[in-house]
Amino acid sequence: MTARHFLLDTDLTSSEQAALLDLADQLKATRRQRGSGPRPLDGRSVALIFEKPSTRTRLSFDVAVAELGGHPIVIDSASTQLGRGETIEDTAAVLSRYVDAIVIRTFEQSRVERMAAAATVPVVNALSDHAHPCQALADLQTIRELRGRLAGLTLAYLGDGNNVAHSLMLAGALAGMRVHVASPPGYEPIGQVVRQANEIGAVTGGEALVMHDAHEAAADADVLYTDVWASMGQDGESETRALVFQPYRLDEKAVDAARPDAIVMHCLPAHRDVEISAGVLDGPRSVVFDQAENRLHAQKALLSFLLGESAAGVGSR
Ligand code: CP
Ligand code: NVA
Repeated sequence: MTARHFLLDTDLTSSEQAALLDLADQLKATRRQRGSGPRPLDGRSVALIFEKPSTRTRLSFDVAVAELGGHPIVIDSASTQLGRGETIEDTAAVLSRYVDAIVIRTFEQSRVERMAAAATVPVVNALSDHAHPCQALADLQTIRELRGRLAGLTLAYLGDGNNVAHSLMLAGALAGMRVHVASPPGYEPIGQVVRQANEIGAVTGGEALVMHDAHEAAADADVLYTDVWASMGQDGESETRALVFQPYRLDEKAVDAARPDAIVMHCLPAHRDVEISAGVLDGPRSVVFDQAENRLHAQKALLSFLLGESAAGVGSR
């Protein structure tokens, strides 16, 4: 039997995603009541590999594994043989003999896929250049708890059409949402993701639209979302991007175009008065720290789903 991986949002079905969000809500409520939640990872270990920097993902996965009763092991490429050229396949094979799951943040999506192909334990994408599916789960949990539903809502994403936008399009489509992405020409989401989101949307009632006009995207939106203009690995492009992305800043004008009760989201880290105005980020509509908190609950739900009772026996050592 092969292990169940979470490399892209579409590795969950629409109903699995909804069930996982329900579980995330339950785990959050239990934790808030200071109750001891389930410990499906008792006696199990999870490797957390970071080939890029991280604050939220690293800490929330570390705490998630510990709270589920497991043992997290955080490693980075610089201090392991990955940084000296050991292949991802050999690393996957070796880690599969020690741990019960591998969580990896890296560059190309193909590295996550190669890790999964060579591992006998579940592999989780903790951000690649292509997608950030764990972030999207926490984002959907946040929207649902604040708005009571997901289907039929419009999320307007302003900025770079890369990893976070891709995951919002796919996870949003699975949940029946309309996702508008406004990006400068040349920085749009890749066509294959947009097509896939619309194929899913044809069944769920969701829709994915790519635009070049930020105001048009934000009009009547329930959720406004942005992300950094230069992602990890693109630091050399910061100055060019700062000019190109200027019209896509999530500012007071975008908020005025959205619904009066619209919420403002950012996966963080944020740059005040660059991709988002300080007034909006720190303003009353901003739910960015709820999003950050929900990384913990959503990832606990995800790990429980991949490694819990129903997944027992999946993967082999
Ligand atoms: N949003 C997010 O993934 O944050 P980190 O890069 O700090 O993990
Ligand atoms: N798009 C950003 C997301 C950071 C969480 C990046 O890849 O750096």
